[in-house]
Amino acid sequence: MTEPALDVHLTPEYAAQALRADVRAGLTAYPKWLSLKWFYDTVGSALFEDITRLPEYYPTRAEREVLAERAQEIARTTGAYALVELGSGSSQKTRLLLSALSQHGSLREFVPQDVSVSALTESARAILADYPGLIVRGVVGDFTQHLRLLPGESPRVVAFLGGTIGNLLPDERGKFFRMVRDVLQPGEWLLLGTDLVKDPETLVRAYDDSQGVNAEFNRNALSVINREVGGDFDLEAFEYVALWNAEQEQIELGLRAKRDMRVTLTELGRTVEFREGEELRTAVSAKFREDVVRKELEDGGFELHRWWTDSEERFAVSLARAI
Ligand code: SAH
Ligand code: TRP
Repeated sequence: MTEPALDVHLTPEYAAQALRADVRAGLTAYPKWLSLKWFYDTVGSALFEDITRLPEYYPTRAEREVLAERAQEIARTTGAYALVELGSGSSQKTRLLLSALSQHGSLREFVPQDVSVSALTESARAILADYPGLIVRGVVGDFTQHLRLLPGESPRVVAFLGGTIGNLLPDERGKFFRMVRDVLQPGEWLLLGTDLVKDPETLVRAYDDSQGVNAEFNRNALSVINREVGGDFDLEAFEYVALWNAEQEQIELGLRAKRDMRVTLTELGRTVEFREGEELRTAVSAKFREDVVRKELEDGGFELHRWWTDSEERFAVSLARAI
């Protein structure tokens, strides 16, 4: 079987260093925090796929509904030669785009990019097998750091799906849009998935499901730290918390210490104290409104061309043009 080409912009050594620096900064700050990008090791990426199949986690299904309905229009409008996908994960929904763009006749190349080597390798292989003739070139990289040298010939569509944009803070989002804009030519495209503001109950349930998969996904971050920096976190000593912040319009996720404890991080040569009830912030997931998305895109150098939602208006997909 032909193996897909993999460009490694983030070597395991560099990733290990960056993780260490992040853990050191986050666990010595107040409040303590961890960066979501390190959650996606092999176990974490598999847990995220389980999340996408939960009855309570509507974003994946809602976004798929929009893509299924609009894929042909996206193909006609963009006539893309290359599809670049950032934070591609399993690229399951992306197949709707790959099929429509292939049928349309313009697509030659697919460039999935992710920090997770396991998710990337698996999905690039599967897509190569299912789309004969398509050039598949995976990029191991961090979309918050550099998009330099993203391959692919014009005209390109950069897809950023799953509502992952909501996991960035507002200033990180600004930087992200400008960075994407910088690697594109005027007239090329960004396809963006954003989860929408809705009733808090639906939102909280998506992130605090009855089977506890979201909780397990979050606790896995502690296993990653235990393994990568010689930590001795007791995963059972933390309770998972998912809250809706109505003012900031974001879901806030964290792990709350059930008791006082001291955690040793051997490879950082230090210990970290937790007080009972103290929270370790693990992620935010911002929810959007059309005017906010339009404004952030415009500030980043894009013009919102189409705004599509699913039938229940839970999730939006935007097609924006680089100006
Ligand atoms: N696009 C998929 C997966 C979304 S989950 C979907 O819509 O279902 C977010 C994905 O982004 C994961 O695969 C994770 O490994 C990746 N990711 C998270 N932070 C990243 C970063 N800083 N750079 C590159 N990929 C990142
Ligand atoms: N991109 C996903 C989202 O914001 C990530 C996610 C899903 C997540 N469930 C989570 C992040 C639980 C942290 C904790 O919907």
